[in-house]
Amino acid sequence: MMLRRLGRSDCLVSAVALGTVKIGRNTAVRYPRPFALPDDAAVDRLLGTARELGINLLDTAPAYGSSEERLGRWLRGRRQDWVLCTKCGEEFDGERSRFDFSPAHTRASVERSLRRLGTDYLDIVLLHSDGDDLAILESSGALETLIELRRDGLVRACGISAKTLPGALAAARCCDVAMLAYNSEDTSMAPALAACAANGCAVLVKKAFGSGHLCATPEGLRQNLATIYAAPGIASVVIGTLDPSHLRENVGVAEGVMGEQMLWIERASAYLNKRYGLSLEDVGETEVDFYRRWHDQGNTAEEAIEAFGEKYDLQPIEQR
Ligand SMILES: NC(=O)c1ccc[n+]([C@@H]2O[C@H](COP(=O)([O-])OP(=O)(O)OC[C@H]3O[C@@H](n4cnc5c(N)ncnc54)[C@H](OP(=O)(O)O)[C@@H]3O)[C@@H](O)[C@H]2O)c1
Repeated sequence: MMLRRLGRSDCLVSAVALGTVKIGRNTAVRYPRPFALPDDAAVDRLLGTARELGINLLDTAPAYGSSEERLGRWLRGRRQDWVLCTKCGEEFDGERSRFDFSPAHTRASVERSLRRLGTDYLDIVLLHSDGDDLAILESSGALETLIELRRDGLVRACGISAKTLPGALAAARCCDVAMLAYNSEDTSMAPALAACAANGCAVLVKKAFGSGHLCATPEGLRQNLATIYAAPGIASVVIGTLDPSHLRENVGVAEGVMGEQMLWIERASAYLNKRYGLSLEDVGETEVDFYRRWHDQGNTAEEAIEAFGEKYDLQPIEQR
């Protein structure tokens, strides 16, 4: 599985990450069907498959029931192989959530996550938003506390799992990492993805499959991942599953989609150079931006470049 840089850090994360809500919590969730929590053998198979597929990023949270504790038990002796993302601010008592973003609770929550996960540092800690993103970021003191914990070496990167566009745009300015919902049915966070990419804030995508409502067909699944990987700034797509065969399918489709995009970019770059003597650098666009803007403008990369040439009135080399 392809590794991508986590924003400005030197941490490399797999382009698909495993979301672990379902290993610890099955009440007050929005999945299409009820499910039983997996036993330890099933968790072992799932995490073993993730490892085998090259996934190195696990996403959890105190609000995901027993998820952190179960991961902590499984990770004994394996910690160094994984990048761990957890959260703070939401507490779930089995029926409902309450939220606390005070500095004291933020610090206590991080210390508890360290104990539960059996580690002396957390790679990523995100504020687990209740929807009031801007107030959490700007006036709760929680982000400042995470920054202190980062300075002390207990946390490597900090940010927010945001729910609003203004919150996500603010995160692009002040966070290392933003977790944002994005899929083919809901691209409302697109301006925040662009802002995150411009500022070096890493994006982790949540709800890629609309919590299981957008992956009923292989085409739906592919379409979502194609939309997401064509967006700028994406470090990893956090997909929740309990099923190792779904995980395998997701990684296969993700690799296929990213491979097609890279191939398109290679062909488009080669044709741009052959036809107009230009490189993508000359055009002043990143590869992903160029792909997003132009790949739908023709059936092939070459047709898209012809459309590009026409739009900007470029003279082909042989006519000069
Ligand atoms: N506020 C937050 O911070 C927040 C909120 C939501 C999510 N998250 C994070 O993001 C992760 C993902 O979000 P999510 O769990 O809400 O939703 P999701 O990843 O959009 O969808 C997960 C659902 O899709 C199903 N699924 C996955 N792959 C499939 C496949 N190949 N074929 C058919 N079904 C498939 C899973 O069922 P199976 O188990 O049957 O595969 C599961 O029910 C979470 O686990 C969590 O780590 C964070």
